[in-house]
Order: sequence, then C-alpha cells, then structure tokens
Amino acid sequence: MRVTVIGTGYLGATHAICMAVMGFEVLGVDVDASKVDTLNQGRVPFFEPGLPELLTKALESGRLRFTTSFAEAGAFGDVHFICVGTPQQSGSEAADLTYVDAAVTTLAPYLTRRVLVAGKSTVPVGTAARLADLLHGLAPAGDRVELAWNPEFLREGFAVDDTMKPDRMVFGVTSAWAEQRLREVFEPVLAQGVPVKVTDLQTAELVKVAANSFLATKISYINAMAEICEATGADVHDLAEALAYDERIGGRFLRPGLGFGGGCLPKDIRAFAHRAEELGVGQAVGFLREIDGINRRRRARTVDMVVEICGGDVAGKRIAALGAAFKPNSDDIRDAPALDVAATLRAAGAHVVVYDPAAMDNARRAHPELAYATSALDAARGADVVALLTEWNEFREIEPSAMAAVVRRRKIVDGRHALDPSSWRAAGWEYRALGRPV
Ligand code: UGA
Repeated sequence: MRVTVIGTGYLGATHAICMAVMGFEVLGVDVDASKVDTLNQGRVPFFEPGLPELLTKALESGRLRFTTSFAEAGAFGDVHFICVGTPQQSGSEAADLTYVDAAVTTLAPYLTRRVLVAGKSTVPVGTAARLADLLHGLAPAGDRVELAWNPEFLREGFAVDDTMKPDRMVFGVTSAWAEQRLREVFEPVLAQGVPVKVTDLQTAELVKVAANSFLATKISYINAMAEICEATGADVHDLAEALAYDERIGGRFLRPGLGFGGGCLPKDIRAFAHRAEELGVGQAVGFLREIDGINRRRRARTVDMVVEICGGDVAGKRIAALGAAFKPNSDDIRDAPALDVAATLRAAGAHVVVYDPAAMDNARRAHPELAYATSALDAARGADVVALLTEWNEFREIEPSAMAAVVRRRKIVDGRHALDPSSWRAAGWEYRALGRPV
C-alpha cells in the first residue's frame, strides 16, 4: 500500500517518516518547496528528538520522498493523509481551515480510482462531512473516493514514540472498507496491542478537541488552585502532589506554573468554544473561556512576581530569561508563555537576556527586541533577577552556587516549579514560585 502525507509540519513530517520506517512507500507533499528540499536532503526543519536519525534511515531505504506535486501524489497514493495546520484565524477564535480546504480541493482532481483520504488535522466538528462532499464533487472517481478522520494525539518532544506507539487510535469512518484500509495502513502500530476505537466522523473529530480541552482544564485547574494558595499562604506544589495520590485524579498534567502554550492547546480550546457557539451549545463548554483566562493570568502573575522581587519596578533592571520554547525538548515558540513574559518585561523597560537550548533562532526572529545569550550562565551574568520560564533539564541541573557567582543579585522566580527551593535558599537565593509561600 502506498501512502501520501499532505503537509510536512510537525505532524506530517513525523507521520511520513514513521510510515516509511514501518515499511510503507511514502510520498510527502508540501506547497513549500524549501521545506520539501530540506527534507529530501535529510534535514528535519524543526527540533524533534530522534526524528533526524529516522529521516536518514527512511531516505536510505528508498521508501520516502518529498514533492510539491499534487498530480504526483494523486497518482501515487492508495491512502492520502491530510496533515496540514489549522491555526487560529487572525481576529477570531475560530480555526482557519484554509489549508485543509486547499489540500482537499487541490488533491481531488487527481483522484481517478478508489482511494482513502484520511484527515489527521485538528478540525471543528462537522468539517469532515463537508470535506467528504467536496471530495465526491471534485474527484473524477466521485463517491469511490472515501473520507475518514483519524485524529493525531502526538506531543512535540515525544512525536516519534507517540506516532509509533500511541495510547490509542481513533478511526472515524463511514464504511467497513475505510476501516479496513486504516487497519491495514496502521497494522504495524495495531500489532503492538494499541487499542483502536472505530467511530463516525463527527465523534472522531470531537475526540481530539475533547482530549486537548481536558488536558488544558487539568492544567488550569491546578493553576487556579495556585491563585488560591497565593492568597492564603498555602503551597500548590504540595497540594498537587497530595491530589495526585488519588488515582481518579492522577498527577499528569497537574504541574502548576506558567501554564500552557504552543500551537495546539490554546487555539484548540478557543476554536472548540467558538464552534460550540455556532452549533447553539456554547453554554456547554463556556468554562473553556475561564480555562483560557486562568491560563493567561499565570503569565501576568509571573511578570508581577518579577516586578515585585525587583522592588516594584523593572525599568533598567537586567533579567535573565531561562527558556523561550513553549515547553522543553522543542524549538516551538508558538504562543510560548516564556517569550510572552520576556517580551512584557522588556516592554516595561527591563533589559531581558534570553537563553534557550533549542529555540534561539525562532525566538530571535520573533523578538529581535530581546537580547540573547549563549548559555544559562551567560544570560545570568550581572542579572538582577533570574526567571526560569521553560523547564529544560539543563536548567534543573544548574548549581545554585555557580549561578550565584555570576549574578548581581541572588533573586530567582521559578515559573515552572522546576527547582528545589531549599537548595537555592541554602545558597543564599531569594526563591519565589507561583502558588508557593515566600
Ligand atoms: C498537546 C497534547 O498533549 C497532544 O496530545 C496533542 O496531540 C497536541 O497538543 C496536538 O494537539 O497536536 P503539545 O502541544 O505538544 O501536545 O504539548 P503538551 O505536552 O500537551 O504541553 C502543552 C503545554 O502545557 C506546554 O506549554 C506545557 O508546558 C504545559 N503544561 C503541561 C503545564 O503547564 N503543566 C502540565 O502539567 C503539563
């Protein structure tokens, strides 16, 4: 079976590479010729642990290639995966479906035989049914081209593992033939005992946004508790640990701090709330706006904490910002809480020096107004405050005494609860963390 993957961002590139490694003939398709060239030359255009090695392996096997030609894709594939982005529309909370629509309408005229088109992108519920109509109308093979929805749950930083061995697979289908095709194309994954849930199209679309909304809710729930802790002198870190012993609650995604960012959680909860309103059931998920609000307040509170620890004004103060990516093991800065905090402090007159192990190039492009250093210690040199904003392991390993030797003042705001307060305090640091007592 031959597979095409349309869209070679995080999702599509990972999917294409993993499918080739699993033994399928794969053609990756993107409208961006420079991305196609980069991938054909064996370079992954973003940071993802383990993926460059797999790309090399897949290219060497001769089973993987990338192209800009939809005509070639149409002739090649038995299953076409749609993996293009669905960002937030500018000026609206809705998802921008331009790329998904373009992928389907560009591919459809080349579909002259019975094939499966499987959407993986995160879309508002109801999109798949609309795309199926579009496909049937535009494809020369008409109704013999079928559409399925197969949402993707991979996390950046764990993209390879999550693709090769996901927690579950969801097959949204309208026929036994489509289900069978998906079972064949995911046979190497399913053979490992990965559970599969077969649903209709709309349930499959909803599983994805429901999952991301639940994860966002967990994070904002514990961060709401952090706000209460700050007002009462309680410790949210201990609170979260105590909650996590209850297996019904569980400890994952219950890490308090600066909150969630990235290209998925924030835009997905907004698009879901927006779509529910369109459907007349906005009230059912109105709480998602509160989840978003709690999340935004954590960024503002982190800025306030830096201002407080500076004595009420950051103007002219030197601040070391450790981290720029929206989370560790990623160079992704989309809606990154760390950069949001750094840019706000800069706008308040501080001299902000940023260091991130992977996201420096992206951060520089997006925020040329910030200063950049070559290491955490370099960023901290002469700092009045150190702010830890992304919990990279290398920041956890910093020796408090080594950093104390280079800063101007021993003041640290731990925006990610990544450090051990007692060892930093023992080394003479004033340590502050969201939701923890002073
Ligand atoms: C998220 C989901 O976890 C994936 O399952 C999903 O497939 C993906 O979105 C997507 O829709 O494509 P990702 O955005 O890569 O994955 O990152 P997460 O690991 O979910 O982290 C999101 C944000 O939440 C990060 O900024 C992280 O720092 C923050 N977070 C996470 C917390 O603040 N606390 C936690 O306890 C966990």
